[in-house]
Amino acid sequence: MNGDLTAIRAILFDLYGTLLDVRSVEAACAGVAADAAAFTQLWRAKQLEYTFLRTLMGRYVDFWQVTRDALEYSAERFGVALDPARREALMAAWLRLASFPDAPEALAALDGAGRTLGVLSNGSPPMLDAALAHSGLRAHFAHVLSADAVRVYKPHSAVYQLGCDALGLLPHQVLFVSSNGFDVAGAAHFGFAVCWANRAGVPADRLDQIPRLQIRSLGELVAALRGPL
Ligand code: LAC
Repeated sequence: MNGDLTAIRAILFDLYGTLLDVRSVEAACAGVAADAAAFTQLWRAKQLEYTFLRTLMGRYVDFWQVTRDALEYSAERFGVALDPARREALMAAWLRLASFPDAPEALAALDGAGRTLGVLSNGSPPMLDAALAHSGLRAHFAHVLSADAVRVYKPHSAVYQLGCDALGLLPHQVLFVSSNGFDVAGAAHFGFAVCWANRAGVPADRLDQIPRLQIRSLGELVAALRGPL
């Protein structure tokens, strides 16, 4: 699936699941529950659910707190007692996520071609700073934008508007790259040109929005953008 990308002036990336692999958290959860994969899945699902629900209710707390709340819920559901040191060790996994193997090379290629790159994430500013520093990806980005600035979460349009404001561009001039179906739909609804990094090869969410571009790895994005913007 491809589309006209000639209007694109900058590229914004979602972070968790798109550039950084949240499966790193699973390694940290080994030994916490018998089924570390199921525990991690519940933790991530609750983390996202809480962002949606808090945004709907107008009861913002930052992504670090949401992540901690989701961990505590998951631990109780799995019957796991977490002492404070264990809890903080698990939380710290979010600050040390591995980048997907295709991310450094793709970002270097896009950056090297003189494109303006940024991150637009639900993560709180300290989480983004730590994770980008740890992954070594920080230097590629002219902008690191957090939903914290507007105290609502994606897919609320106010978060995507942060990207236009920072870049001084209209939505259709921004290519937004995300692996998350809800984020793809929200960004397309906002008016961004959207690239769905469908790493897992899952079906499209039924949310009435079609991404401009669909890829399996970030290398395909570099190929699609080769040539003048
Ligand atoms: C983010 C989540 C949605 O980085 O993955 O914003």
